[in-house]
Amino acid sequence: MRSPLPRRRGAPRSLAGSRSGTLGGVGRRGFLKALPVAGAGAALLGGCATKEGAVTDVDRVLSISLGQAESHPSYGSLVSFGERIADATDGRYGARVYANNSLGDQQETVQLVSDGAIDMAVISGTQIENSEPRFLPMNVAGVFDDIDHQNRVMLDDSIVGDLFASLEPHKRLTVLGGYTQGSRHLYTSGGPIESPDDLAGMKIRVQESEIFLRLIRNMGGVPTPMAYSEVYTGLQAGVLDGAENNEISYVTQRHYEVAKHFTMTNHLVGFDFMLANTDLLADMDETDREAVREAWKETQSEFVEIWKRETAEATQEMLDRGVIISEPDAFAPIIEETGQSILENPEDIALYDAIRALSEKDGA
Ligand code: GCU
Repeated sequence: MRSPLPRRRGAPRSLAGSRSGTLGGVGRRGFLKALPVAGAGAALLGGCATKEGAVTDVDRVLSISLGQAESHPSYGSLVSFGERIADATDGRYGARVYANNSLGDQQETVQLVSDGAIDMAVISGTQIENSEPRFLPMNVAGVFDDIDHQNRVMLDDSIVGDLFASLEPHKRLTVLGGYTQGSRHLYTSGGPIESPDDLAGMKIRVQESEIFLRLIRNMGGVPTPMAYSEVYTGLQAGVLDGAENNEISYVTQRHYEVAKHFTMTNHLVGFDFMLANTDLLADMDETDREAVREAWKETQSEFVEIWKRETAEATQEMLDRGVIISEPDAFAPIIEETGQSILENPEDIALYDAIRALSEKDGA
């Protein structure tokens, strides 16, 4: 696995590095300010010179925002998605992938997709949960057994159909599905971490989400919300004592350089949702719209296998780099109890039960 330098905010490589005369040298904010909202991505991006991350020999280039580095498997997968769309629509649509949050942090990109300034964005479950609390049960500890169970649920229209369309009327956001984040774990600069006592007083970075705040608090740490792109420097400066994420993010963001103790807590199987602007899809011919939806489903399922392979590679890289990996038992009961405790209203419990039922039915 390649390990690029973690991206810093304010240095948008994708835009500045573009060979397009229109975009070259324009900062992110200047670029977005210049966009006249709907369809703007097409006007500026269509016909760009070909560059890694883009399928541009098409009539309409869709802009896709991603918070990960190019070495993260979601980047390559999104590029394949663009190729699939180009094939399936006979070149009417393609895509350009903007990595490293170069179009904005996830929270900002939700609004930009809603406005039509960006066509699509990959955002963490925690961000969507903040926009629409009905997604909450998909983010809790224990709801998914593993990534195969999660993928079956995310492709089952009887469970996700209405939910994925629920942001359309008022936010103009359509959820196409998404990417697994795999199992998430804890990592710290000091360690080893064997029990909640070892985490006492430690500032652990979390995503802005009640679930994560509660989880880390119950596990014994001090939850500290912060943007993904700022975690490396937070750990380096000692503002944070640790963070939590999957093996692939830990390696591709090079967090092992500043937090060497990796504690396998498996506290939840996360999901990144793929958002598309609703009007973009509505304006497509029905065959193109279906082609895009199908291309996404194929991409999503293929990603599950890519994820397994790359997680094994990341784990090997961690060992090669001297990361100290431990697997204590002390956290499992706390995690299980916390997962259930956050769900209070009947709709949330019904969704949780529907997801769990799919696991039992298929023997996941
Ligand atoms: C994972 C996930 C991202 C998320 C990040 C985080 O890397 O794929 O979407 O932003 O975790 O912890 O913020």
